[in-house]
Amino acid sequence: MTDPILSVKSLSKRYGDTVAVDDVSFDIENGEFFSFLGPSGCGKTTTLRMIAGFEKPTSGRIEMGGEDLTRVPPHIRDVSMVFQKFALFPNKTVGENVGFGLKMDRVPKDKRRKRIAEYLELVDMAGFENRDPTSLSGGQQQRVALARALITEPSILLLDEPLSSLDLKLRKNMRFELKRIQDELNTTFIYVTHDQDEALSMSDRILLLNEGQQEQIGSPQELYSRPVSQFAADFIGDTNIFHGRVAGTNGNVVDVEVDELATTLTDVRNIINAGEGDRVAVSIRPENIGLSDANLGRDVEGRIDSVTFYGNSTRLLVEINGEEVLVEIGGRAETVSLDQNESVYLGLDTEQAALLEA
Ligand SMILES: Nc1ncnc2c1ncn2[C@@H]1O[C@H](COP(=O)(O)OP(=O)(O)OP(=O)(O)O)[C@@H](O)[C@H]1O
Ligand SMILES: [Mg+2]
Repeated sequence: MTDPILSVKSLSKRYGDTVAVDDVSFDIENGEFFSFLGPSGCGKTTTLRMIAGFEKPTSGRIEMGGEDLTRVPPHIRDVSMVFQKFALFPNKTVGENVGFGLKMDRVPKDKRRKRIAEYLELVDMAGFENRDPTSLSGGQQQRVALARALITEPSILLLDEPLSSLDLKLRKNMRFELKRIQDELNTTFIYVTHDQDEALSMSDRILLLNEGQQEQIGSPQELYSRPVSQFAADFIGDTNIFHGRVAGTNGNVVDVEVDELATTLTDVRNIINAGEGDRVAVSIRPENIGLSDANLGRDVEGRIDSVTFYGNSTRLLVEINGEEVLVEIGGRAETVSLDQNESVYLGLDTEQAALLEA
């Protein structure tokens, strides 16, 4: 691993009795697309603002390129920030908005004009120099804000829910655009969102926060398939969380007697080091449960409560002993009868299950 571009060490921020950020530590590599993900109030913005220098940490350190930032004022830090609400100057043209940072840096007018055109082109807004920002759509305004933040060539771009005021379709388009721009410039992005789809689809790595504390750091794939807690399993994607007791251990796998299913799941990977008799939880994603209309062995019998068609998949709620289990099946929905109240058998793929603390 090369030296990280940003190193956050035991960072905490308190406001009176509120602990907004609680002992958070992570490193970010140069060129990474790194996201802070978590529910409202978990400390994402506060962490970002401390990196930008707008908030002072209560304790802990932030280092950039190996240098301690504690005493470095915001405007000297090699970062730029894009906000959720469009923060364009309404009394300046688009071109003047984009060129603002260069003007502050006393870049001569000709050079400025060239760079403004380049960065407007980058965000797909070529030729908009003389427009009034208030005459632009929300998506266009965010593109201009992005160009304005990037034109000074910061090493790290900080983005605080930049897409959240856009409608869903535009938001999805802008995800690709942001990734493309990040790839093209190879700038490190730190992206704040509470939207798991956004984080999963864009990030190289994600820091999942919960009430100011770091819950898990990893690639989207790791967070999705190897959640370390019930919070992580539940927050990222949809899942079924079952409860039970370890009935036996065998090397690095365990058998779990699951209360809700009145069955034993065998060979669940024991990432939490559970011992025989321990209470545990097991997370199984809806797509890791197969359905059949016949008992194929260890299968669990249930009754279909509801069937919802989503085009590329179908989701079912299946009732087992009074509990609802969410099952998702891809394209081949027609191979099982899927009528409400029909009886079905569930095959749980324990290889894909995650063992969690009870
Ligand atoms: N200036 C402040 N004074 C007092 N409390 C604050 C201040 N700023 C943030 N907080 C508190 O710190 C906690 C974390 O807030 P923060 O804005 O970082 O959350 P967030 O994860 O960005 O949430 P959201 O998704 O809603 O934007 C919250 O409980 C919030 O009320
Ligand atoms: Mg916030």
